[in-house]
Amino acid sequence: MTMPSATIRLQTPDDQPALQYLNECAFGPGRFARTAYRVRENSVRDPRLNLCMELDGVMVGAMDLTPVTVGDVPGALLLGPLIVSGDHQSLGHGLRLMLYGLKRAKDLGYRIVILVGDLPYYLRAGFCPIPRGRIELPGPVDPARLLYAELVPGALEEYSGLIRGMRDPSNVD
Ligand SMILES: CC(C)(COP(=O)(O)OP(=O)(O)OC[C@H]1O[C@@H](n2cnc3c(N)ncnc32)[C@H](O)[C@@H]1OP(=O)(O)O)[C@@H](O)C(=O)NCCC(=O)NCCS
Repeated sequence: MTMPSATIRLQTPDDQPALQYLNECAFGPGRFARTAYRVRENSVRDPRLNLCMELDGVMVGAMDLTPVTVGDVPGALLLGPLIVSGDHQSLGHGLRLMLYGLKRAKDLGYRIVILVGDLPYYLRAGFCPIPRGRIELPGPVDPARLLYAELVPGALEEYSGLIRGMRDPSNVD
């Protein structure tokens, strides 16, 4: 049996109800209190990096990469949320969405991606723990879950300090 392949595309305003439904199912109302959620809400998005995945016209996954500054240095992205709907999980969609997004972000000139998540999952996309105390979010986060992936070799060296939402995502150089 061959599996139908899912399509990755940019999110549009019409996708908002389906995206909200995915978020609600994955995280429930508690998502609004998460530190990473609050940073994202305070940042201008880069619409070139808000992705979703469709299968037979149904949205089955989504991932955002939000521009942030780290210690006032631009060129960084905060990954999340990454969601694949319950009945489509463990088919490789999450990894595919993530690798596609990382490649796209690199091509757009971004230098590093940071996220809060489970290392055993994100390891397979090349994420590692950020050395303790080097980079912080403005709220409580388990430091073992604060991960990074360099899009440019050695980029971590350029980034230390507090992560904040970014106002001008076009300036990534
Ligand atoms: C995490 C998530 C996006 C993975 O999507 P997916 O399409 O199922 O992922 P993949 O198919 O690429 O990988 C599946 C594998 O990852 C493993 N995995 C999933 N979540 C994991 C986690 N938190 N920690 C460790 N492994 C995990 C699965 O067990 C599976 O393992 P297998 O390959 O040995 O069977 C999806 O489970 C999801 O939407 N979860 C709810 C929302 C969430 O927690 N998002 C991440 C934080 S923002």
